Amino acid sequence: MDLQNKRRVVSGVNLVEVETTKQLESIISAVSRGLLQTPKSLPCWLFYDSVGSKLFEKICQLPEYHITRTEEQILRTKAAEIIQGVSQGLSLVELGSGNSGKTRLLIDAILERQATLHYIPIDISSEFLLQSSIQLLTEYNRLSVTAMAAEYQAAMPILAQQSISPALILFLGSNISNFDSGEASVFLQQVREHMSPSDRLLIGVDLVKETSIIEAAYNDSSGVTEAFNKNLLIRLNREIGANFVINQFDHWAPFIESESRIEMRLISRVDQSVSIRDTGESYDLSEGEYIHTENSYKYTITHFNEISQAAGFEIEQQWQDERGWFSVVMLCPRSSKET
Ligand code: AVJ
Repeated sequence: MDLQNKRRVVSGVNLVEVETTKQLESIISAVSRGLLQTPKSLPCWLFYDSVGSKLFEKICQLPEYHITRTEEQILRTKAAEIIQGVSQGLSLVELGSGNSGKTRLLIDAILERQATLHYIPIDISSEFLLQSSIQLLTEYNRLSVTAMAAEYQAAMPILAQQSISPALILFLGSNISNFDSGEASVFLQQVREHMSPSDRLLIGVDLVKETSIIEAAYNDSSGVTEAFNKNLLIRLNREIGANFVINQFDHWAPFIESESRIEMRLISRVDQSVSIRDTGESYDLSEGEYIHTENSYKYTITHFNEISQAAGFEIEQQWQDERGWFSVVMLCPRSSKET
């Protein structure tokens, strides 16, 4: 495993680059598999090249995108209480760290209690990860950063090899929304397996609410989510020689109530054919046919608690905003309480 990882120090940041499925060949195989399905689909991890990561940052600031602001408000008011429940001498791990924006609230609360902190952000966009990490080091002189450019699944075993316990593991921003309940269970079990008794997992979960409010967050009036969705096609044109004509697609993201999920879609405006140099294939799209690019599941508290418990966790504490739109949940690996 270690041979595949590149380790180096860049501007004070320990950077670990893990061989993952985001390599070129896996883009090609994911795309050729997805475009043969009905409906056609592309995996949402393809969104996050550096342009996509920046667009996602803009999404988080949209008036319609309540998720980030609501979670941030919970963290701002509850950070001290959240940290109080966790062991002293913490390390902080973050899965899908993005720009580490909200993490600062927790870093501040931890540094109130301890002199130094080792922060380990994990994200698949390596350039973006590095920039965010360097920025953090300039803001905090009591922080050390090991940035891991990897998918969560690939990073977890490597994390377990380092002695970082007790660790608070963050999975914020409702990143769990991209998993269906089966995938969410598998993911939670995987994280659980790599946790020591004194470790904790803090998860932010977007909750089911009125459909019009959910849909507005994914069909914003300034078109940033549209640009984010279409950037995926631009990326495929550039990286694997696809010839998508971007303005022949419309963005639309309906809330599918029976599945309790938003579906991000790119709808073909015309009958057209797309060819991709690196898959060696052409794909026909008829007018109105869509490519499904992302699921974003909305949970009820009850459902989320059920899958967490089934994955071997105990719900230690839970915080919500006044409107009940978002929940921040502290999970404890179960055996550590039983013994
Ligand atoms: C990063 C998965 C939480 O589902 O809200 C935002 C991604 N997609 N707008 C979400 C996203 C379109 C976001 N997550």
